[in-house]
Amino acid sequence: MFKKSFLALAVLLLAIISHAQVGIIPQPVETTVATGGGAFRINRQTKIVAGKDLQNSVKFINGYLKKFYGFELASTKNAKATNAVHLRAGKIAGLAKPGYTLDVKKTGIVIQGSTDTAVFYGIQSLIQLLPTVKGTDLSVPYVSVKDYPRFAYRGMHLDVARNFFPVSFVKKYIDNLALHKMNYFHWHLTDDQGWRIEISKYPGLTTAGAFRDGTIIGHYPGTGNDNTRYGGFYTKQEVKEVIAYAAERYITIIPEIELPGHSSAAIAAYPWLSCFPAKETSIPKNASEASQLKKGKKVQETWGVFEDIYCAGKDSTFLFLQDVLDEVVALFPSKMIHIGGDEAPKDHWKICPSCQARIKKEGLKDEHQLQSYFIQRIEKHVNAKGRTIIGWDEILEGGLAPNAVVMSWRGEKGGIDAAKENHFVIMTPGSHVYFDHAQTRDKDSVTFGGYTPLEKVYSYEPVPAELPAGKEEYVLGAQANLWSEYIRYDSKAEFQIFPRMSALSEVLWTPKEKRNWEKFQAAMIRQFQRYDLWDVNYFHEK
Ligand code: ACM
Ligand code: ZN
Repeated sequence: MFKKSFLALAVLLLAIISHAQVGIIPQPVETTVATGGGAFRINRQTKIVAGKDLQNSVKFINGYLKKFYGFELASTKNAKATNAVHLRAGKIAGLAKPGYTLDVKKTGIVIQGSTDTAVFYGIQSLIQLLPTVKGTDLSVPYVSVKDYPRFAYRGMHLDVARNFFPVSFVKKYIDNLALHKMNYFHWHLTDDQGWRIEISKYPGLTTAGAFRDGTIIGHYPGTGNDNTRYGGFYTKQEVKEVIAYAAERYITIIPEIELPGHSSAAIAAYPWLSCFPAKETSIPKNASEASQLKKGKKVQETWGVFEDIYCAGKDSTFLFLQDVLDEVVALFPSKMIHIGGDEAPKDHWKICPSCQARIKKEGLKDEHQLQSYFIQRIEKHVNAKGRTIIGWDEILEGGLAPNAVVMSWRGEKGGIDAAKENHFVIMTPGSHVYFDHAQTRDKDSVTFGGYTPLEKVYSYEPVPAELPAGKEEYVLGAQANLWSEYIRYDSKAEFQIFPRMSALSEVLWTPKEKRNWEKFQAAMIRQFQRYDLWDVNYFHEK
C-alpha cells in the first residue's frame, strides 16, 4: 500500500518535473515529450539552416542568443548540415495558419512553419525550451510540438501620454510581446496629459502639447504637485524605427489618436479646437505653481475626464484631425487606426452654438448622435485612405460607424452588441485585462484601483457565453491595457505586466479546452527564472 502510493507520487512528481522542463508558455496545441528523455545540445558549432526568406528569423535567434547567452550561430543554406537548427517555411497539411511544428531530436532541431510568421512563433517555443541561466552549451529536451494560435488578435496596449516611455523601453515592450507570440501593439499616443507624436503640419502639438508644468503627487486628487515640467514625444524618425522593429517581430502597431475627448493637450496647443477657445482650463486641486500663474488652455497635470473636448460644430476641427490622421496613416502601415472615442463629456457640446447648429443642420437627435456624426465623419476619411477605424465601445452610442471595429472596455456588453451587428470586436474588459490594476490585496504601490490577480487574468474567456451562435467569429481576440497614470518608470510598467502577460498569452493562443491553471502554474516556475534572465521586473506573490 505504502509502496504503491509512493510510486504514484514519484510518477506524479516526475510528470510535474518533466512538464516543468517543457512548460512552453503559451501552451501549444500539442506537446509530446520523448519517452526516455534526452536533449539536443546547441553549442557554438551548431548552425542555423535557413533560406533567404527566413533571414529575419535567423537574425532574431542570433540577437536573442547573443543577448542572453553571449554567442551567435553561423547560418547556412545547406539543408544537409548536421548539428543544426533547421528553419523551413511552406504549406503544412492539416495545420491551421500560421501553424508550425517544432521537433527536437538527436539529429537536430527542425522548425517548420506554414509561413515565415509561423516559423517565428516556432522560434519563440524553442526559446521557451532553452535553459533559464546563461551558458554556452544549451540543452534542449527532445520534444515534438504542433501548434497554431486560437485568436488572430493577440495584443497589449501602452499609454505613453500620462507618463512617457522612451524608445528603448517601447522596444523592450515589443520584445516581450514577441516572446509571448502576440501580434499587436496598441500605442496610446495622445491624451489630456500629453501629445506624444510629431505632426509636421502642427508643430505646436509637440512644442506645447507634449509638456505639462507639473504632475500631481500620489493618488488622485493628489497630496501636492511635483512642480516639475514633464513630457516628451517621438519624432517621426523614432516612430518609423519602432514600426520597423515591431515588423521584424511580426507585430503590427496600432496608433491611437484620441477624439473627440481626452484632447486637452491638443487644445492647449491650438485653443481653436475647443468649443470655447477663450475659456481657461480650470485649475484642479494640486495644480502646479506655474500653471496657476498661466492664463488660457493647459496640458492637464491631474487624471480623469475633462469637459474641454474637440468642437464638433466647426469644420476646422475636422480639417485638423484629417491632417493629423493623414500623417499618422502615412507613417503606420496598420490596416486598423484607433480613434479613441471614449469618455467624451457632452457638457460643452450642449451649450456650444456651433455644435448645436450642427445638430440642427444634420437632423441629429442629441449630443450622443453628434458623437456618432463625429466618429462617422472621421471614419469616412480614414476609410478613404484604405484603413479601418477602431474605437472604444462608446462609439456605439448614437449609432455605430459602418466599418468600425469595437474595443470593448466597459465590460463585454459593447463587444457583444457590436458582434451581434456583425462588427469585429477586440475584448479589453476592465474586469480582467486592465494591467494598471493591483495584483495583490496588500498595498505594494499606488495603482489605479481594482484587483486583478494572475488567476483572474488566466480565467478570462474572450468569447462571451451570451454571444449568439455564429457570432463568435466576430471576436478577433483580446488585449490587455496598461494605463500609466501611476506608472512613471520602466520597472513599474514591467511589474504591472508580469506575470499577467504570460497568463494573457495563454488565453489568446492556447485552445480553450487545453487551458489549465495548475499546468500553467507549473510552467511559471521556469518562466519566473526566464524573467530574471530577460532582466524584467515582475510581481511574484511570496
Ligand atoms: C478607457 O479605459 N477609458 C478606454
Ligand atoms: Zn462646439
